Amino acid sequence: MQTSYLTTSSSNKHKTFDKEDWSSAYCNVEKELNNAELNLSKGSIPKDLSGTFYRNGPGRLERGGRWVHHPFDGDGMIAAFKFRNGNVSLTNRFVRTKEWEEEEKAQKFLYRGVFGTQKEGGVLANALDVRLKNIANTHVVKLGKELLALWEASSPYAINPVTLETIGISNLKGVLKKNEAFSAHPHFDPGHHEEPRMVTFGVTTGPKSTIRLMEFSTEGKKAGSLLSDRKDSFNGFAFLHDFAITPNWAIFLQNALSFNPLPFLLGQKGAAQCLASQKDGASKFLLIPRDSGKFAGESPKTVEAPKGFVFHHLNAWEEKENINIDSIYYDDFPSIGPDDDFREIDFDLLPEGILKRCQINPNKNKFIATTLSNQCCEFAMVNPLLEGKKARFCWMATAEKKEGNGPLQAIKKLDLFNNEEIIWSGAPRGFIGEPIFIPLNSSKDSEDQGWVIVLVWNSIRSGTDLVILNAKDLSEQAILEVPISIPHGLHGSWVEE
Ligand code: CO
Repeated sequence: MQTSYLTTSSSNKHKTFDKEDWSSAYCNVEKELNNAELNLSKGSIPKDLSGTFYRNGPGRLERGGRWVHHPFDGDGMIAAFKFRNGNVSLTNRFVRTKEWEEEEKAQKFLYRGVFGTQKEGGVLANALDVRLKNIANTHVVKLGKELLALWEASSPYAINPVTLETIGISNLKGVLKKNEAFSAHPHFDPGHHEEPRMVTFGVTTGPKSTIRLMEFSTEGKKAGSLLSDRKDSFNGFAFLHDFAITPNWAIFLQNALSFNPLPFLLGQKGAAQCLASQKDGASKFLLIPRDSGKFAGESPKTVEAPKGFVFHHLNAWEEKENINIDSIYYDDFPSIGPDDDFREIDFDLLPEGILKRCQINPNKNKFIATTLSNQCCEFAMVNPLLEGKKARFCWMATAEKKEGNGPLQAIKKLDLFNNEEIIWSGAPRGFIGEPIFIPLNSSKDSEDQGWVIVLVWNSIRSGTDLVILNAKDLSEQAILEVPISIPHGLHGSWVEE
């Protein structure tokens, strides 16, 4: 391991982090900038990086002295880092949702948040207010000529990809009904069926849940058009944040969760705080045949899944009759109760995310699970040109310590063939977001050739750094100071020039 650029002489050698350093990232984004320069503090920006790194996450966490109950309730703020000719510039904008505009004017929270943020006035003021505040804060992707700011319980906001101005809620050329749920985790099929596609879904849930699986064209004149669309219903409540694709399948993991809406209706809890693990409940894989694949039109299959809770998958691929899917499993659903302060959480009490592989036999209702890495991780990805295929390498964010939960401070490159790993760390004073791998070469022989870019909370200067690593050996290529402070965030994407 290399010595971190965030090691100071006063760093406590026995501690991987200080909680005050970690929680210092929870701040409001105070400025919106246009093509602002970044200050290069180390190395040089690769000239072959040409495109834009878009990234979404909560940018407003406090209003009028009151804090959100959970950072996931913070309004979406999009940052665009534009790379060209060895230079990089930043444009950033809040998504102008209807609710953001109203709360900006009022300078206070007027809406409840799904993760427990309450309006002023106590339980009575919040009871029976079941409006969902679409905060557009989870992911940002490009589809056709527009960016989409995504929040899974409602429809996307369309954004101008250059200026980041908000165009408005999009129904995607008439595809979505008013406020229809649209996942924050689209997956990009790199061309398993000739043209590349964006595959995504929306879920409506209750005692029965319905998944709407959609595929959109991403290239040429048809970019943004719907190519296929199917709906399948399953028994039981489904909380589906992410999924995975192979050439022939869309794979969902239905966690064993129950939903009791009463405390939400009574104004005591946010909707997501009403989710609870079913202790003896069984998780299930839901396998839906893609309309572009060889099982098009066939019925979905349901297969038993391991116990545990999954937000994110790494990748999936087919091997003979089996489907393999790598996912990050938690022992339990992590939630923040009504009386907890999210800045004071005790990492030691939280379950850690473990990367596991499941080999599923869709015809025999059987799975075989193996652990790929025991170190707490999140935000894992393979080379996007291998999405849906067997990949050798992956990159992920990990805790600094080898066991148990902890804040994300390091990046691991894992060789899935021989378990060798390379680690770059920002500990003890750096905290990282989602690392994005950018392939340099489309040849499969150079699967790990490219760059990894990541935003790091630099608690030494209470600011955000943009770090560029060589993807092969995780050596530092460049470190840049971002001119705004950006809280711990969610997902982002790379759009080639
Ligand atoms: Co996610």
